[in-house]
Amino acid sequence: MDKNAMKKMAAERSVDFVEDNMILGLGTGSTVVYMVEALAKRVQAEHLNLTCVCTSIRTEEQAKSLGIPVKALNDVDHIDLTIDGADEVDANFQGIKGGGAAHLFEKLVATTSTRNIWIVDQEKVVDTIGRFPLPVEVIPFGSQQVFNKMAKEGLNPEFRMTADGQHVLTDSKNYVIDLHLNQVQHPHLLASWLSEQVGVVEHGLFLDIVDQVVVGAPDGVKILTA
Ligand code: A5P
Repeated sequence: MDKNAMKKMAAERSVDFVEDNMILGLGTGSTVVYMVEALAKRVQAEHLNLTCVCTSIRTEEQAKSLGIPVKALNDVDHIDLTIDGADEVDANFQGIKGGGAAHLFEKLVATTSTRNIWIVDQEKVVDTIGRFPLPVEVIPFGSQQVFNKMAKEGLNPEFRMTADGQHVLTDSKNYVIDLHLNQVQHPHLLASWLSEQVGVVEHGLFLDIVDQVVVGAPDGVKILTA
């Protein structure tokens, strides 16, 4: 089965968890695009009273274009549920996010949220995270020095570049360094080291955050609960 079909299945199933009057966090990425479409259909059909907080300019534009009410993270006092994609998730519900360079806003929204659901295709459920390069958002000033430190630690850093050779910029106009690790055996240790580095804004290790993972697979949707 095509990967996008599995993403769509998971995304459409995930909106069943949305209830009237919720404050809802909306993630970012190709799977979330399907989820926002499905959510808009429910909002319209059931006249749901939702307030949504978006994790990127992209998601905000899509939500607004479909008539979903949006507020800034600063303007809500809590978030009931956030539905987001992920790049990898392991059996201990630890994950990597940031393939779309949105992990800073995603982590802010996720850690404000009472409950977090991830929507993925089955290929993203792995034994050990790390095959997907770990995104790290860094401020442009001095980023080469941060890069050099990472290289010295053996973390195989690579600046994320556009096809025409420019730095990819996050919504906060920062750079992204992807760490080619292959396997992350000790995610909490790596997360601490990264958080300690001056110039690092946020890394894509999402540890002890997700409550449920909705997995699209050829034989149907599976719901994994942490
Ligand atoms: C955005 O920065 C990411 O965290 C996405 O949520 C993640 O990369 C999943 O993206 P897709 O749904 O496009 O695979």
